[in-house]
Amino acid sequence: MKNNKIIVAYSGGLDTSVMVKWLSQKYDAEIITVTGNLGQKEELDGLQEKVLATGASKFLLVDLQEEFITNYVWKALKAGALYEGVYPMATSIGRPLLAKLLVETAISEGADTIAHGCTGKGNDQVRFEVGIQTLAPHLNILAPLRTWEFKSREEEIEFAIKNNIPIKIKKDSPYSIDENLWGIAIECGILEDPTLPPPEDAFQITVDPKVAPDESETISIDFEKGEPVYLNGNKLSPIELVNELNQIGGKHGIGRMDLIENRVVGIKSREIYEAPAATILHKAHYELEKLVLDKDTFRFKQNISNTIANMIYDGLWFTPLFKALGSFVESTQENVSGEIIIEMYKGTLSVLSRHSEHSLYNKELATYSAEDAFDHKAAEGFLKIYGLPFKTISQVEMSNKQRIPT
Ligand code: ARG
Repeated sequence: MKNNKIIVAYSGGLDTSVMVKWLSQKYDAEIITVTGNLGQKEELDGLQEKVLATGASKFLLVDLQEEFITNYVWKALKAGALYEGVYPMATSIGRPLLAKLLVETAISEGADTIAHGCTGKGNDQVRFEVGIQTLAPHLNILAPLRTWEFKSREEEIEFAIKNNIPIKIKKDSPYSIDENLWGIAIECGILEDPTLPPPEDAFQITVDPKVAPDESETISIDFEKGEPVYLNGNKLSPIELVNELNQIGGKHGIGRMDLIENRVVGIKSREIYEAPAATILHKAHYELEKLVLDKDTFRFKQNISNTIANMIYDGLWFTPLFKALGSFVESTQENVSGEIIIEMYKGTLSVLSRHSEHSLYNKELATYSAEDAFDHKAAEGFLKIYGLPFKTISQVEMSNKQRIPT
């Protein structure tokens, strides 16, 4: 009796299509593929016929868009999580959710093994495997791309043709592209040379800022407890809001990134990203936090943001520390409600207005005009005490002749 079942993380691309056939030849197991829809624009229709013709017994397609935005993306947004200060991590945030889908599918189908199509030097293998090990330690994991015989895309295509695997050979696209609602990652081909700027054809959803409209466009975003709810006064679903901002931002050339980044496995890679909605929302959210968070919380949160970004990037979503830091972030969002107005113009974002009922900005304290209510005289006593430890250190050093007055 054949009792092994393998759940395959299936994207519809060349690697995972070849992988289904390869697994069916190498293992005496039933193969079930599962595809998560995170809002990738790639064709998802027709995948079922293709995969069933390739050796799988079952094809599952699960729409995860809503869960992705509300339980994953919003967490990262509220955390202010930008890897190495810039990358909003569309790919990195999507992987733990896909790992959860794979585990849930393995459990509901009674499978003992999960196979994914990540390579041995990428970050995604880390996110999948750490996620799967944490959520379901009893499952086996297979990563055929790390071990199989194919050395190039051409060899995979040859195998596909030989085995009648229906593949769509894209019109010579030299790039490897990963897309979801929160953004697009583009690598490979000419992009591997960091001395060269990315060619225009690498970009998928944004226009070159130089050719963006000459008219600027202004939008308002309303947040409730750190989550964006209204766009230009209209209440939108999370998916609609992100789609809409991708569209408007893309039109104005917002959210292009060209980065050298540090991968988990220790190599540096050159990545191009497009993330208009993420760029706009991070900017607006940060701006609102500046208005409503007290100084100590704001400063402390900046360090936490960085730690959380590293943890997301490094595949540590389902860990105790990540959960604990998430609770901290959640408690900081209590008053992050209000409206930010932003102008988009040729790839740039300018904040035109910020407003919140929880604003800690007090014009009477901040003003340099006659209405000033700040007690300037009180600063004298404050500074005597605030500078006291450093004054004491210097007095001791000078009396020891460790240094002369400067
Ligand atoms: N380097 C990015 C990350 O680790 C994106 C990788 C996306 N993959 C791709 N095939 N372009 O999050």
